[in-house]
Amino acid sequence: MELERLLRSQGFGSRAECRALVGEGRVSVGGEVCEDASAQFEPEGLSFAVDGRVWRYWRFVYLALNKPAGYECSQQPQHHRSVYSLLPLPLLKRGIQTVGRLDQDTTGLLLLSDDGPFIHRYTSPRKLIPKVYEVVTRHPIDDAQVAALLNGVELREEARMVSAAACVRLGERQLRLTVTLGRYHLVKRMLAAAGNRVEALQRVEIGGFALPTALAAGQWMWLDLPQLALLAQRG
Ligand code: URA
Repeated sequence: MELERLLRSQGFGSRAECRALVGEGRVSVGGEVCEDASAQFEPEGLSFAVDGRVWRYWRFVYLALNKPAGYECSQQPQHHRSVYSLLPLPLLKRGIQTVGRLDQDTTGLLLLSDDGPFIHRYTSPRKLIPKVYEVVTRHPIDDAQVAALLNGVELREEARMVSAAACVRLGERQLRLTVTLGRYHLVKRMLAAAGNRVEALQRVEIGGFALPTALAAGQWMWLDLPQLALLAQRG
């Protein structure tokens, strides 16, 4: 693939912008500056650098972000910053999107990708992808609340009772809750319907992929092939 086309595909701008980057000697491949925008490279597995920052060619990108509190999963946030502000410009320019959404005050695992079918599979209500949350509640959690969450609670605008796929008490006010639906404020509404209230919510796992403990709040990572294979088993 021509270097200019390759850069365009990775979010480095228009044809003219990519030609200019190369012409200005700001792009290197295999450690050597390449000033020929028409030079051909095999893209699969290629590493290149722009202004000294190393990138790898990806046909599609898949990322995991540890979302901090106080960020909205929207390109046009209303009251807080956008999670997209945590990502470098080339990823934004190639149209990366969140796979589902978390509330602004929810923290933890958020997947992002520019692979439309992947996003669709992961957000499809028919797929029943398990999502695991750690919940801190306002009131102590009793057995009746755990039973209600497992047996199903009634939520406004849901035709059927909504139940957790798993619910484990971790402490007096702490739960590990697995749900397969994706609905607005789902966990908060479920806890309210069970007679309690969410004080803090963190997503720790999606489709068998756990939030890496080394990934600090606000940091993101590329997903590698084994991690994607794990997700693909579910999607
Ligand atoms: N359930 C909620 O209530 N909020 C989230 O952000 C995710 C699940």
